[in-house]
Amino acid sequence: MGDSQEIEKAVGILRAGGVVAMPTETVYGLAGDASNPNAIKKIFSVKGRPIDHPLIVHIGDLSLLSQWASEVPEEALKLANAFWPGPMTLILKKAPSVNTLVTGGQETIGLRMPNHPVAIQLLKTFGKGLAAPSANRFGRISPTSSEDVKEELGDRVDLILEGGVCEVGVESTIVDMTGAKPRILRPGMISAKEIEAVLNEKLNTVSSTAPRVSGSLESHYAPITPVKQIMPDVLSEMLKSMDVPAAVMIRSLVLDKALQKKHSVIKMPLDPKQYAHDLYHVLRTLDHLQMSMILIEALPEGEEWEAVSDRLKRASSHK
Ligand code: TXA
Ligand code: MG
Repeated sequence: MGDSQEIEKAVGILRAGGVVAMPTETVYGLAGDASNPNAIKKIFSVKGRPIDHPLIVHIGDLSLLSQWASEVPEEALKLANAFWPGPMTLILKKAPSVNTLVTGGQETIGLRMPNHPVAIQLLKTFGKGLAAPSANRFGRISPTSSEDVKEELGDRVDLILEGGVCEVGVESTIVDMTGAKPRILRPGMISAKEIEAVLNEKLNTVSSTAPRVSGSLESHYAPITPVKQIMPDVLSEMLKSMDVPAAVMIRSLVLDKALQKKHSVIKMPLDPKQYAHDLYHVLRTLDHLQMSMILIEALPEGEEWEAVSDRLKRASSHK
């Protein structure tokens, strides 16, 4: 991991306008030179992503913030100091020099400093911002290992840097800092409560459709197999009565041996952080079974489940 020869190779590819898969603590990203329009175009084409969906620019050093943002409000700096490097993306007003190809035509920009030794080493050696969406094909499950990236993008990516299994497992919390009050655009492992504690103020909870967040499309992060969430008390009965086997993700439910034999059952962790860590890998594994359905024991309520609930909701939306 973090082999410096591999990093040098990656930097060479990036300087030439190529793209490289980069591990981060959340999910693997598909990285390209954020100041090179050809690299940005390549990212969009490799992912099959519509060009009006903005990319996050990753930086390895706080001093780069002013190159990308025209204004860094004090509150944004507070969040950066508290949570970077880490799973948080800040939406700021873009600097005039930033090409709108990166921002999907918007006047704002997403910035993040990832917390993964390989990503940090790559960013520091490259010395500039790297645009990096999750390294999956558009609309599909984000990759949390180098094998997942290979499965998603294969030969379309010039190099995949090895960084093990992602520690967090779901994408960063996105916080819009351009309004009167900060607002979460995409929930992640850093919760509203933790952000409010640092800022000493309540966040804006009114949802807005104005800024475009591809993770806010109803159907996203989705396996090919249809996904359904079922209340725990209904799920056992349903599994008993079904005449075809299903792929099943349980959490607190206990299933008898016969049901476990009839269906392909995976027991998920009780803890929300552990659940998030396993989520995409398990969905991918169950999707490979090509069964008629993936049935998921519905999650408990509560802020600590928000990031996972959000992803499951999108994974189960009809396409
Ligand atoms: O954890 C993560 O954030 C990962 C890793 C690789 O860093 N990246 C990631 O990128 O999830 P992506 O492109 O798959 O999702 C980024 C989200 C998109 O939903 C995009 O629309 C939103 O960030 N975004 C980026 N810039 C934005 C902006 N200026 N305004 C609103 N949303 C923005
Ligand atoms: Mg994505």
